[in-house]
Amino acid sequence: MLDGPTASLPLTLSGPNGSLQIEIGPLRDLEVRPLFDLFGAVIAAGEGYAHAAPLTWASFEETWLVPTTAVVAARSEGGLVGAYYLKPNGPGRVAHVANAGYVVAAKARRRGIARALVVDSIERARLCGFDAMQFNLVFADNPARPLYEALGFEVVGRLPKVISGQDALIYFRSLSPASAAPAGAAEA
Ligand SMILES: CC(C)(COP(=O)(O)OP(=O)(O)OC[C@H]1O[C@@H](n2cnc3c(N)ncnc32)[C@H](O)[C@@H]1OP(=O)(O)O)[C@@H](O)C(=O)NCCC(=O)NCCS
Repeated sequence: MLDGPTASLPLTLSGPNGSLQIEIGPLRDLEVRPLFDLFGAVIAAGEGYAHAAPLTWASFEETWLVPTTAVVAARSEGGLVGAYYLKPNGPGRVAHVANAGYVVAAKARRRGIARALVVDSIERARLCGFDAMQFNLVFADNPARPLYEALGFEVVGRLPKVISGQDALIYFRSLSPASAAPAGAAEA
């Protein structure tokens, strides 16, 4: 349970490969370059984001550094293993809806880190005053889709063939207390 939007939280993730200790908290200055490298590897592999490869610093900055409400890191043994950004999905009257994007380093995947990051982002978004969350461009074949749906996000739109001939989906989730995630998908 976070006690504020800038809190850091130690977590133990348990899975078939044993347990993993991570910490989730605001990105530190020293982690900016590792995050560029992590995101650059995701873009080079054509995974999950529309950015053209190779990733430029300007494109990285635009997505991750300015303007964001929060950039949150997952670290294990002191090293960056994942991150998400949280920002208004648009200006003015739509700024109550948050947008977020998640990455996990290839070597750290399938250990539950993305799940922990999405859960953290829902909680932190509420603490930052957002009342809903929206993902604008989720590739139809993105492996995170079951995770988003288990945590209460619903597909509200489909953009046909916009990513290299593949559909992209728009996901939305209210953050009001009355719209908690489905039973069995505890958020924390
Ligand atoms: C998508 C991504 C964030 C998932 O990170 P992760 O830490 O491996 O995910 P988790 O271990 O928390 O997995 C949570 C659930 O997501 C689903 N999932 C995640 N990766 C999967 C994969 N490669 N294949 C099938 N299902 C997968 C599963 O339902 C999984 O639950 P399970 O392990 O109990 O089956 C990571 O692969 C990544 O960074 N990809 C590139 C960037 C990206 O696509 N970001 C999302 C943009 S919409």
